[in-house]
Amino acid sequence: MSTYTVEDPRKVTTRRLAEMKAKGEKIAMLTAYDYSMARLIDEAGMDVILVGDSASNVMAGNTTTLPMTLDQMIYHAKSVVKGTSRALVVCDMPFGTYQGNPIEALSSAIRIMKESHAEAVKMEGGAEIIESVRRILSAGIPVMGHLGLTPQSINKFGTYAVRAREEAEAERLIADAKLLEEAGCFAIVLEKIPAGLATRVSAELSVPTIGIGAGAGCDGQVLVMHDMLGINKGFSPRFLRRYADLATVIEDAVGNYIKDVKSSDFPNEQEQY
Ligand code: KIV
Repeated sequence: MSTYTVEDPRKVTTRRLAEMKAKGEKIAMLTAYDYSMARLIDEAGMDVILVGDSASNVMAGNTTTLPMTLDQMIYHAKSVVKGTSRALVVCDMPFGTYQGNPIEALSSAIRIMKESHAEAVKMEGGAEIIESVRRILSAGIPVMGHLGLTPQSINKFGTYAVRAREEAEAERLIADAKLLEEAGCFAIVLEKIPAGLATRVSAELSVPTIGIGAGAGCDGQVLVMHDMLGINKGFSPRFLRRYADLATVIEDAVGNYIKDVKSSDFPNEQEQY
């Protein structure tokens, strides 16, 4: 049974997220990649469902998000949209589909919107992708920014450690956040940066910030669904709070099923025709 009751049953829009920030109401965002989980997450009252390219890790078993293709993201987003009625659905633009030039970026974003029916796209980066962000926004497609530890740049960073601890990188992040806001992004994800910096960025921007490993000063929080449900047993960074131990629940259930099949306990008389 859900422990949360939705206070405002209206469909969540980008405009509603702005109102939430203005009222000081926190925004809850979680990833999903398929119809069934999206339905449960939406019914529980989630504000934003992110079809993250973390699908590359948790669905496809890759070590980075880089292999994800536009077709794969569209497949996941389409399934999530079918299971969602209230939450805003945002789809990640995968690596290599927007960094080249603004026209390529626009056609990638248009494919996501047309084919998946997601309601917004998310893009990693600041000044280096701003022309692509502007081009996509000019076509009426809402864009969520993503700064800090941007996993598509893992080969440049060489580590998943906290970003922007140094003054110069922190100043660059603040400038990028302002640039994305001025361009018209409706929200910005801040990943794995010091809490003090995230609090400052959140206070200086009028659009909401959504943090992951960025502390309590953000306007909202996002986690990867498999991590917070405890499906990903080996992953336990400091910022992660586990709300369930589904790995154990699933292993126990599957183990019991195997035992019952082997012992001919399943199916019984009531479970056959
Ligand atoms: O792909 C993803 O799941 C993300 C979140 C971690 C913000 O980008």
